[in-house]
Amino acid sequence: MSTELINAEQIVKNFGLTKALQGVHFTLNAGEIRGLIGENGSGKSTLCSILAGVYPADSGQLYLNGQPYSPTSMIDAQRQGVAMIVQEMGTISGIRVADNLFVGKEKMFAKAGLVNRKAMVAAARKALTAIGVTHIDPRIMIDELNFEDRKLVEVARAVYDRPQILIVDETTTALSQQGRDIIYSLCRRFSEQGKGIIFISHDLDEILEICTALTVLRDGMLIGTLAQEEMKPDVIKSMMVGRELIGDYYRGDFDGQYGEKVVLNIENVTDGRILKNVSLQLHEGEILGLGGLTDSGMHELGRIAFGVDRPVHGRVELADKTIISQPHEAIKRRIGYISKNRDQESLMITATVSENIALPSLPDILQSGLLFRKNERRLAETQRQALSIKCSSVDQVVRYLSGGNKQKVVFARWIAHQSQILILDCPTRGVDIGVKQAMYQLIYKLKTEGRSIMLISEELAELIGMCDRIIIMKNGQCNGEFRRSATLSEHDLIESMI
Ligand SMILES: Nc1ncnc2c1ncn2[C@@H]1O[C@H](COP(=O)(O)OP(=O)(O)OP(=O)(O)O)[C@@H](O)[C@H]1O
Ligand SMILES: [Mg+2]
Repeated sequence: MSTELINAEQIVKNFGLTKALQGVHFTLNAGEIRGLIGENGSGKSTLCSILAGVYPADSGQLYLNGQPYSPTSMIDAQRQGVAMIVQEMGTISGIRVADNLFVGKEKMFAKAGLVNRKAMVAAARKALTAIGVTHIDPRIMIDELNFEDRKLVEVARAVYDRPQILIVDETTTALSQQGRDIIYSLCRRFSEQGKGIIFISHDLDEILEICTALTVLRDGMLIGTLAQEEMKPDVIKSMMVGRELIGDYYRGDFDGQYGEKVVLNIENVTDGRILKNVSLQLHEGEILGLGGLTDSGMHELGRIAFGVDRPVHGRVELADKTIISQPHEAIKRRIGYISKNRDQESLMITATVSENIALPSLPDILQSGLLFRKNERRLAETQRQALSIKCSSVDQVVRYLSGGNKQKVVFARWIAHQSQILILDCPTRGVDIGVKQAMYQLIYKLKTEGRSIMLISEELAELIGMCDRIIIMKNGQCNGEFRRSATLSEHDLIESMI
């Protein structure tokens, strides 16, 4: 006999004209690790935000352990045992790690009106260690941490109060394998203790490995729930998109040809932190993969290639010997870049979809030096349709788009700008499988048009599936090179990674 922890009935939520949830029924039982899957914009984060007290539903009823439940805020939900690790950045900049962990709970450490910092830091260290994180110093400013470590702080905060229900919204895509393992073991431990977990992800392999049941949403409606033995990839995919996905997922050929011309030459780059004398060449019409562990230096190399960061030695130069040391030079030379840290570094979160897409193309669409909004909109509209970006219109502010749709906006920007060189750091992060397939096809099409792509990725299958050549980095250096072939395996790459 299963015990119902959460029961949501007839949940409706609209945002203006957007029907985010249209009468969803959802139950979660004790001990379950319930996967939640669906296309970008299907309502997953909205449903979980309602359960976690971020905002109320327009109508419908919630029950927690059989009792009516209407959380007034995230903190209130947490007090009642429902905690969520949000999809976007959930830590507060400008304060320390320990303060982030205990925000709203400072009273715990107060003595005669003063916060006992020593006790707070000790408690923070304990909270981090409890989830297996020992490399983060609770005394430092949160801003000194990278995206992944900030996520881990959020995880520690969410589980600190031993919630009865833990919601994990697309957290794993931001994490390396080590970070993922932390989340997986937490989920399993919670499940054994009879708690309930809701686990949102676009990664089917991960869902199949970790979830004990799976609920599929489409267009704000619940399509169905599969028991573990019914969870088959083909069934899941067609429930998600409402049709069979046809055609190749990755590119279908294995010849791996590209031009001889070097379009981007990274020479002897040292950054004084991780990278040590890295040299590599990107060729015309090449998809060059860059793989490795998250701290291998591959993300840093991408930033240097676009001029976001500058090397202390070495240089990045184009075919005509122009040196790239600033993003605006890179943009002028039709180089595009997608940062792994999308919301902070790639998007203007309070600007509209069309402003975001048109940004680097503004010089191209000026007429007699004037910017006409209709030109900007037309450019964006073409991309909205091509990538099926889900938004009420291109005038919608990007902040209100679902995670995957934000990622599409960044991608669209560089397509619209007709970039000749694309540096893509985890470009398919958070996008659903249908869109992922479309992005892969688009990347391949760009290659066949002679454009060059540097694909930085933590997904080995993606590297093997898409690249002409793969360079594996380790400890800030190139540690292995592989040509495209039908027999290349993930195992081959892993050997050079660790
Ligand atoms: N605060 C908001 N204001 C306006 N629209 C919103 C808001 N939050 C969500 N939406 C819209 O509601 C719909 C559902 O969004 P939601 O974030 O729940 O999708 P999702 O399933 O989590 O997608 P993803 O996989 O991309 O994260 C989308 O069309 C989104 O643009
Ligand atoms: Mg979401």
